Amino acid sequence: MAKNIAVLVGSLRKDSYNRKIANEMIRLAEGKLNMEIIEIGNLPLYSEDLDENPPLQWTAFRQKIQSADGILVVSPEYNRTIPGALKNAIDVGSRPYGSSVWPGKPGAVVTSSVSSLGGLAANHHIRQAFVFVDVPLMQQPEAYIGNSSKIFGEDGKTVVPDTEKFLQTFVDAFQKWVEKF
Ligand code: FNR
Repeated sequence: MAKNIAVLVGSLRKDSYNRKIANEMIRLAEGKLNMEIIEIGNLPLYSEDLDENPPLQWTAFRQKIQSADGILVVSPEYNRTIPGALKNAIDVGSRPYGSSVWPGKPGAVVTSSVSSLGGLAANHHIRQAFVFVDVPLMQQPEAYIGNSSKIFGEDGKTVVPDTEKFLQTFVDAFQKWVEKF
């Protein structure tokens, strides 16, 4: 049976290219992985002060991650590092101390950028945080998608065949990675 994957999109922008990439990956994974975007834009900023009486949004988010078989992150790079909303989601999922929802869930990271560098720095910063919260990350293939403003048509579908082919390769490799756990 297809495993359930929680997809985290690091951009909150309505017309986000990363969201479009995530949606393309969801489409390419059909019948192989059940991938669903879990929204992170509504999560109050993490503070230990709220641990005793956590916001409902935190609890709902933690439950969704808990029930997923794996994690896919699709994110931009902000100022050469992790967008704040994504880091907040990682922090929310990691607490209260001793009750993190992340450990042992296989994961993968895709970054994209309007520049040709494809979010390389953010990709590795995201990996750093997930290593600490004990998410085993797929190492290859890596995904740094550059020139993201040029790879989609009006309908939000990939117009560059090489990119679509690469995303299919990535999804298929991720499916194999998830099956190992
Ligand atoms: C950016 N952008 C950007 N790009 C990049 O390659 N490296 C970077 O460090 C940054 N820094 C950065 C900071 C902030 C605050 C913003 C808003 C943007 C540009 C970024 O690649 C571009 O806006 C993408 O389109 C963002 O992804 P979404 O929103 O399209 O998914």
